[in-house]
Amino acid sequence: MNRDFLTLSDLGVNDYQALFHRTRVLKEARAQRRVVNTMAGRTLVLIFEKASTRTRLSFEAAMAQLGGNAITLPIQDSQLSRGEPLADTARVVSRYCDVLMMRTFADERLREFARHSSVPVINGLTDGAHPVQLLADVFTIEERLGSVRGCTVAFVGDGASNMGRSFVEAAAVFGFNLRMAAPEGYRPPPGDLKAAGKSALLCATPGEAVAGADVVVTDVWTSMGQEQESLARKAAFAGYCVDAALLKKAKPTAFVLHCLPAHRGEEISGEVLDGPQSAAWDEAENRLHVQKALLETLVLRHEQTLMAAAAVTPRATAVERQNDAS
Ligand code: CP
Ligand code: NVA
Repeated sequence: MNRDFLTLSDLGVNDYQALFHRTRVLKEARAQRRVVNTMAGRTLVLIFEKASTRTRLSFEAAMAQLGGNAITLPIQDSQLSRGEPLADTARVVSRYCDVLMMRTFADERLREFARHSSVPVINGLTDGAHPVQLLADVFTIEERLGSVRGCTVAFVGDGASNMGRSFVEAAAVFGFNLRMAAPEGYRPPPGDLKAAGKSALLCATPGEAVAGADVVVTDVWTSMGQEQESLARKAAFAGYCVDAALLKKAKPTAFVLHCLPAHRGEEISGEVLDGPQSAAWDEAENRLHVQKALLETLVLRHEQTLMAAAAVTPRATAVERQNDAS
């Protein structure tokens, strides 16, 4: 198990089983308004080099509801925007907190940040991956279907986006069948598809990908940082809208995921996003519950590692914290 959560492959099958079990417990605790304070005395720092609504608020709320504290540092307010090296920022900020989350552009920038941090680092979205979103997506599928293993998930849209690439990775990690329809020039890198093996299949058309699917997923055609390509992208993705006619080709029980924000009339029709087969709102809520479980996993495990190395005096044992939570 890795200290950081930069890609889905950083955790294993057993870790995910435990994580989703804990997510269900935490979701139930919140529904019953039971107080859980497993993160008491801990601080999360969130660094954003791109905009966010859900990621920022769900992480901030998660820490507050677990009795901890979250501090958000938007890039424009930081010395990073005036040229302070990323490595220096990581070295300093990680001395103030117990866990860090970063949203940035190139994946290598996140990896560099993690290399210089002394506490666990979470990927809050890069150009190449959005693993915390995938945790919520897979949890949402499991809530509705029992297990994601063996399900058929159709992804329609920008297969080279962070969401497209994370779905390719997730198919192999979680054992579902991904059928992807993406126009030429907007497909995942060949290395990603090779790594996913038989779990991810490229389809010729959106109709072929969606036929008989259990779940239909899409994402924006123009991701953050690509705004200048927007017109060309609209032309390239014509015919890739998840609308009622396309959704009819999936199983009658199929539901639709979208990480949001959405552009109604582009990658998804308003009728579908706001309709009865949309799971997007549960998916957005689940960000909160699954990230609580992730924070506990990373922070408590890191503390145990430090304790084992006798570097810290425990603030509370893991057993006491579990008792607090139950
Ligand atoms: N889905 C998601 O990450 O949303 P935000 O960009 O609002 O954080
Ligand atoms: N692919 C989108 C996801 C937003 C949550 C983007 O990167 O802008």
